[in-house]
Amino acid sequence: MLAGKVAIVTGAGSGLGQACAVALSREGATVAITELPDRRDKAAETLAMIEAAGGAGSIVDLDVRDLSQITACVGATAGQHGRVDILVNNAGVNIRRNAFDVTEQDWDGVIDVNLKGVFFMAQAVGRQMRDQNPSGGSIINMASIMGLVGYYQRAAYCSSKAGVVNMTRVLAVEWAEHNIRVNAVCPTFVDTPLTRPMFEAQPEFLDDILHRTLLGRLATPEEIAAAVVFLAGPGAAMIHGHALPVDGGWTAM
Ligand SMILES: NC(=O)c1ccc[n+]([C@@H]2O[C@H](COP(=O)([O-])OP(=O)(O)OC[C@H]3O[C@@H](n4cnc5c(N)ncnc54)[C@H](O)[C@@H]3O)[C@@H](O)[C@H]2O)c1
Repeated sequence: MLAGKVAIVTGAGSGLGQACAVALSREGATVAITELPDRRDKAAETLAMIEAAGGAGSIVDLDVRDLSQITACVGATAGQHGRVDILVNNAGVNIRRNAFDVTEQDWDGVIDVNLKGVFFMAQAVGRQMRDQNPSGGSIINMASIMGLVGYYQRAAYCSSKAGVVNMTRVLAVEWAEHNIRVNAVCPTFVDTPLTRPMFEAQPEFLDDILHRTLLGRLATPEEIAAAVVFLAGPGAAMIHGHALPVDGGWTAM
């Protein structure tokens, strides 16, 4: 479905980014795996998974808080692979803290990665997609149901993800004429090696989440990646400016 396509997945060394990179590769895309420079070993793990399955990719250092690294990342990917057809704008961070206790440093730390980083990454890839021949591509921003609803201890995180949802609409409005589709995915809580200890330590937190989820379970990384692959591919050719919840029904109630 994605043979001949070139994808960039930010923060692809673990979790949802890794699942997206592997899933895009399985559909035939060549995947540029970006990671923080001190997590290059994690990027190598993802590349090894892709290559073991017969796919191809590359590793690019990227801290999305650094605009010069963003420019270099997109230039290196287009230089090595010829073009960029898909961006999965996945890199993100969270700080859980009661709103009364959030510091300026907490706030900036989340917004700089989740909102500013996502915007400038989309801008750099969008320019590449506009200027390449043929022009166009598909950008998928990793938002969250936390961009659609509120939740405890997530003032900065929810604000950043709500920003990503509406930024997605703005980019869809502006870039339609360049055949650049822009959508967001809004996952519910996902069962990953990183989140599992948190749920085990706070079973009441897990109970609350499961109570709010009509399907009564966490999502898997593969279920989020499936939505991303769908939005990247030809089956979603008419889907543009949309925020797709992958939430087991949380936001339906
Ligand atoms: N796990 C969940 O339950 C869940 C639910 C909804 C949305 N999300 C979103 O999915 C995305 C991936 O989260 P995850 O759960 O896989 O977590 P994760 O920590 O495994 O992945 C985050 C990735 O982002 C990278 N990253 C962090 N700061 C960066 C920076 N400054 N520059 C570049 N890369 C950076 C990390 O190195 C890591 O690879 C995030 O945007 C997160 O908000 C996660």
